[in-house]
Parts: sequence; C-alpha cells; structure tokens
Amino acid sequence: MRVLGIETTCDETAVAVVEEKLGGVGAEILSNEVMSQIARHAAYGGVVPEIAARAHIEVLDRLIGRALADARTEIERLDAIAAAAGPGLIGGVLVGLTAGKALALAAKKPFIAVNHTEAHALTARLTEGLGFPYLALIASGGHTQIVAVRGVGDYEKLGATVDDAAGEAFDKVGKMLGLTYPGGPELEALARHGDPQRFDFPRPMIGRPDADFSFSGLKTAARQALQRLGDAPSERDRRDLAASFQAAVVDVVIDRLRVALRIFGKTEERPQGLAIGGGVCANQALRQALARLCGEAGLRLATPPPELCADNGAMIAFAGLERFKLGLVDGLAFAPRPRWPLGAANRAAPARALAQP
Ligand code: KG4
Ligand code: ZN
Repeated sequence: MRVLGIETTCDETAVAVVEEKLGGVGAEILSNEVMSQIARHAAYGGVVPEIAARAHIEVLDRLIGRALADARTEIERLDAIAAAAGPGLIGGVLVGLTAGKALALAAKKPFIAVNHTEAHALTARLTEGLGFPYLALIASGGHTQIVAVRGVGDYEKLGATVDDAAGEAFDKVGKMLGLTYPGGPELEALARHGDPQRFDFPRPMIGRPDADFSFSGLKTAARQALQRLGDAPSERDRRDLAASFQAAVVDVVIDRLRVALRIFGKTEERPQGLAIGGGVCANQALRQALARLCGEAGLRLATPPPELCADNGAMIAFAGLERFKLGLVDGLAFAPRPRWPLGAANRAAPARALAQP
C-alpha cells in the first residue's frame, strides 16, 4: 500500500510518499519533500499567515510532482491520498487540504484527512516501529502536550501547555537575544557554551499533580534578567542566559513527563516507550535529559530523526496509511479544522465506505 501525504498547516510545505512495510509496524519512506518558508517570515519574527498560505500555493504542485518522481511512482499507483486538515493556520490548511481532495477526486482514490498532531504522535511508529500503548511528547512552535497513545485514533491528552508552546518560548527568548526566527536552533547553539546555572529561572508547574505546562512566566523571567544586564549584554551573558533558559525548559518537560508516566501507570499496562515529536524535540539537551529519564524508568525512548520531528509530509502520509489500513477514510466534504484537539473526536469513528469519492 502506498499513500501520498500533504502538509501545509504552518510554514513548511511538504509532500511525501510512504509504503506499507509488510509484516512490520512502520513504513518505508519512498520520498519526502520539504520546502521551508522560514526565510520569508524571518523579517517579521514569526509566521505571517497570509504569506504562508500564498507560499504554499506557489510550490505545492511542484512538490507533489517531485515527491511522485522521487518515489518512482505515479498517482495511479497510489492507494490513497492524505492531507493534514488541521490544527493550524486556516489559509495554509485550506491549500493542502484542497489539493489533496482534488487529487483524490481526479485520480479516484480514497481521501484521508489527517490531524497534524496525531501525525506527530504516530511518527515513532513510522521510524521505530513502536507498539501501542505508549506515551508521546509533542513539543513544537504551536503545541506542547503529552498524550497517551493507545491505538490509531485512540489518544488521551494527559497534559498540555496552558499558555505558550515550548517552541514559542524558545522563539520569543531567541528574539530577545537578537537571534533570527525561529530562535530554537540558534538558542541551542548559543547555550552550548553557556552556564546553565548562572540565572536562577523559575520552573513553572513543577511539582503539580497534573501534567500541564506553562512557559510564559519563564519567558518573562528571561526578559527581566536580560533587562537587568543593561543595553549591551556581553556574549558571555547571552550564552549563560540561553543556557539557563534552556535548562529550565528541560527541567519542566522532564518533571511533567514523570507525572504523566505516573498517571499513565495508574490506568494502563506498561507503556511500550516514550515517543517524541515536534521541532523542539530536535534539541540535543532535551534529548539527553529524555534519554536519562527513560534510562531510569526502564523505558524505551523512540526518537525519530530531527527532520521527522519537525513538520514533514512523511508523518502525514504515514498517519494516513495507518488510518487507511483500518478503513478510516473521509469524504471530500471534510472541512479544515484550525483547532482540532486530539481526543474523543479522533477516536476510531465508524469506518465509512471505502468506495471513494
Ligand atoms: O514542529 P515544528 O517544525 O513546527 C511547528 O511549530 O509545528 O517546530 C518548530 C519549532 C520552532 O518554535 C523552533 O524554534 C523549535 O521548534 N525548534 C527548536 C529546535 N529546533 C526547532 N527548539 C529548541 N531547540 C531546537 N534545536
Ligand atoms: Zn508540527
């Protein structure tokens, strides 16, 4: 089985083709095209929805062509078409979703509307063949949550941010430090030679019995510390501030995961592992702390490569494949969902007729 997946919910236009791995959990990635729009948004310090939607339109056709060519396949030889239908910026979602539906209609293929967050949560199955149930940490520019993944479409949010997403906090503190958007990767590089103990930043939510996150207080603390350093902080100050901020984020994430593991342990059989997804999970300091946590807990850490933690088409194609194998196809009337929380609405809805459209 081969599925093409389209991703346009934020600032990456991405198209991929994946093929079912017979006798295994994962899939083979036959092609994986990603075109980042970051350069177009950098001047504004964040993603501009209008620019994003237009940029998706400009390149999507070409990317679909390239993804098919790289996979040495044709539309006729695909078994289904999947597109991210949300959550995300409505203009961008409309572009990818409409393109996916149009392809499905023209080629008479089944169409699958994929939840972008679900795709992040399932990526560890694509790359690591992780079995159910497991715990997933999704930390990106738009989301920060911990999800119990019991099966395809069967998710329970154990905790989420009550304000900023982790990536958003990295980006905002990066901006304060004069780094270009998105600040996460540059902040990590700056932190590498800094002292993580120099600034005593708060660890919001630590010790709370729920698994929720909060990052806005930490961001404010970073701003105040920077202001106290005066108009021209030294390179050393900037490095120490970056390292101290990053250490606080890592501590918060690890504490929240410990709580989530306890919550999970009360209701489930032992998790098969901890899966990570979202751009922030490319952060090496976080990865090292996650490895330590999993080592202590005797838990398998399933870490997709950084390019599959960030937004990509392979995760959409794979989530589409997983749903398709269960007969979960969608009608062409499926509307975009700018907000689409994981949970009840994703739970294996009754399979609709496979005959499509
Ligand atoms: O998943 P993603 O590519 O896009 C969405 O937001 O959905 O995540 C991008 C976010 C940005 O906020 C970026 O700054 C952050 O992930 N990020 C990082 C790192 N690489 C990307 N944050 C911290 N450390 C990194 N190495
Ligand atoms: Zn994402």
